Amino acid sequence: MHEDLAHVLLDEETIRTGIDRLAAEVTEEFRGKDLTVVSVLKGSCVFASDLIRRIPIPLELAFVAASSYRDGTESGHLSLDFLPAGNEIQGRCLLLVDDILDTGRTMHRLKAEMLAMGAAEVRTCVFLDKPSRRALEFEADFRAFEVEDLFVVGYGLDFAGRYRNLPCVGVLRPEAQARVTAASSSAKV
Ligand code: IMP
Ligand code: MG
Repeated sequence: MHEDLAHVLLDEETIRTGIDRLAAEVTEEFRGKDLTVVSVLKGSCVFASDLIRRIPIPLELAFVAASSYRDGTESGHLSLDFLPAGNEIQGRCLLLVDDILDTGRTMHRLKAEMLAMGAAEVRTCVFLDKPSRRALEFEADFRAFEVEDLFVVGYGLDFAGRYRNLPCVGVLRPEAQARVTAASSSAKV
């Protein structure tokens, strides 16, 4: 276990098993359709790359960048930094993939944007779901794991830009959280 983690919630084997199940569900849903997987950067890059390699039907891959959490664990203003090209979206069946469904604002907004850009259909898929944190009515069509209301890192999820490369999902030690916070605020001045 990484020394900055207080405990591990999902180890590598658990994650693998969950993604195998999810990929099988997604494959059945999109068989015979023009599928574009839209990965929401940066957090879903690890999940999306593991997921697509287990989906054996033809698909295209696109990216959208959204940021709502600035340097900490509090939800901030959502900004869309870039959108996929029109031809990646128009008339296609999309699977919008994110790392975690928390308040639901990111996925709700992105789904509306993709439909406005001319997607034929938009389904949503998240690695983690924190249903207790929802600020608006929104449920994902596919999810790998449900987690309680804890701030988690690893497998693409960050704290102040760190820990995305951990192969498991865990909760940070308070000392590590304080150290990373101090380092990221001093770097900005
Ligand atoms: P939402 O718009 O509130 O649903 O937030 C979704 C985004 O918040 C995710 O894509 C993550 O980047 C971030 N987020 C929410 N909860 C966590 C967490 O526990 N760890 C790391 N990032 C999180
Ligand atoms: Mg994030």
